[in-house]
Order: sequence, then structure tokens, then C-alpha cells
Amino acid sequence: MIKKKDHWEKVFKTKTPQEVSWTEAYPKNSIDFINQLNLDIRLPVIDIGGGDSLLVDNLLEMGFKDISVLDISKKALQRTKKRLGERSKKISWIVSDILDFKPKKKYTLWHDRASFHFLTNSKDIDCYKEIVNQWASKYMIFGTFSKEGPLKCSGLPITQYSCESIAKRFQKHFDPLECKYSIHQTPFETQQHFIFSSFKKKC
Ligand SMILES: C[S@@+](CC[C@H](N)C(=O)[O-])C[C@H]1O[C@@H](n2cnc3c(N)ncnc32)[C@H](O)[C@@H]1O
Repeated sequence: MIKKKDHWEKVFKTKTPQEVSWTEAYPKNSIDFINQLNLDIRLPVIDIGGGDSLLVDNLLEMGFKDISVLDISKKALQRTKKRLGERSKKISWIVSDILDFKPKKKYTLWHDRASFHFLTNSKDIDCYKEIVNQWASKYMIFGTFSKEGPLKCSGLPITQYSCESIAKRFQKHFDPLECKYSIHQTPFETQQHFIFSSFKKKC
């Protein structure tokens, strides 16, 4: 079986953004959810499995000063850096499997669109949970396929979530704030059903 990292490096080496289902011209749900949190732009935010998403461009435009983007694929981050040019120097780029991530600081906002749902066994999900319990200090936003969404993405199995099931995953340390169902129009004019949910750390 092809290794996770090799899979993603190959995707980002061989496919353009128009050739993958998850591409968004504008990450509206993520930005709407972030705006609702009214965050201090000086505080650290991280995009997990950021790939070559335009979220980071928008975070820069929103004025965020401490942005990190993590991805298992070096090529994905290289593509984003190239797009941003000089502005890429303002970002902390982290090439890592999220399950091996050893953060050096806490993140006020933890964002993950379509990366967490690739974890399909309880050991990996528990490992991710341990990482956020320790390193996500205030808010989290997740975008995942919903129960009406696909069972696979990029040929890999995923875990589908409902607003209830994702809240249950994180209930020990995070309270749900908001959750909405959303239909993503892929670049190939097909639809994918997502949920977007936000959480606040329990005191
Ligand atoms: C479906 S894409 C979504 C990309 C981006 N978040 C977006 O919304 O456009 C999934 C991304 O997660 C990354 N990824 C998958 N598994 C990962 C893992 N275990 N650790 C870190 N990144 C991972 C992939 O390389 C890819 O960039």
C-alpha cells in the first residue's frame, strides 16, 4: 500500500488545483466562521492540512500576524509559498504528518478543512485529539464530509461526520459553538456535502 506521505506528494506533483475536488476559489465557510470568533489578529492561528488552500492568503489579508500552515506534503506547501511570493516569509510552514506534530507553542485558533476526516481508526483519531487537547488553546474549526458526503477523497477512505458526532469526538475538552451543513461545488461541477463546526475550549 502506498504511504500517506507519498500519496499526497504525488497528488500535489501531478494535479493542478482544477483537477482536485476540494479546491475552493474562496474559502467562505472557513472565513465566515473565523470572522464570527472576533479574534485578536496578533494571536497564533494554524491551518492543519492546509495544502494549497487560499485560506492563508485570506488570513494575511485579514491582518493575522502569527500564521502557521501544516501539511504532510512538502510540494503542497511549496506551491502555496510560490503563489504568495514575498508574503510567504510571514508564514511558519510546517511539513509534518499531523500525528507526528510536536508543536512548540499553543494556537488560539486551530483550523482543519478536509484533513481530519482522513483519520479513520480510533488510535489515529485519539492521537489527533490528544494533540488538540494540548495545543489548541481556545478555538477550533473543522470542515469534514458529512453523512451525505462521499466515503472517499483522493481515493482514500474518510470518516463522515454529523454535527452531533463531531461534537461528541471533542466533547471532553471543547464545547461546540456552531455547526452548519454546506455543499461544496467541486471544480468539476459536482457537489460534496460538508459540515463546518466550531468549538471553544472548556475552561
Ligand atoms: C483534501 S485536501 C484539503 C486541503 C485544504 N485544507 C483545503 O481545504 O483546500 C487534504 C490535505 O490534507 C493533507 N493531509 C492529509 N493527511 C494529512 C496528515 N496526516 N497530516 C498532515 N496533512 C495531511 C494533504 O496533504 C492535503 O493537503
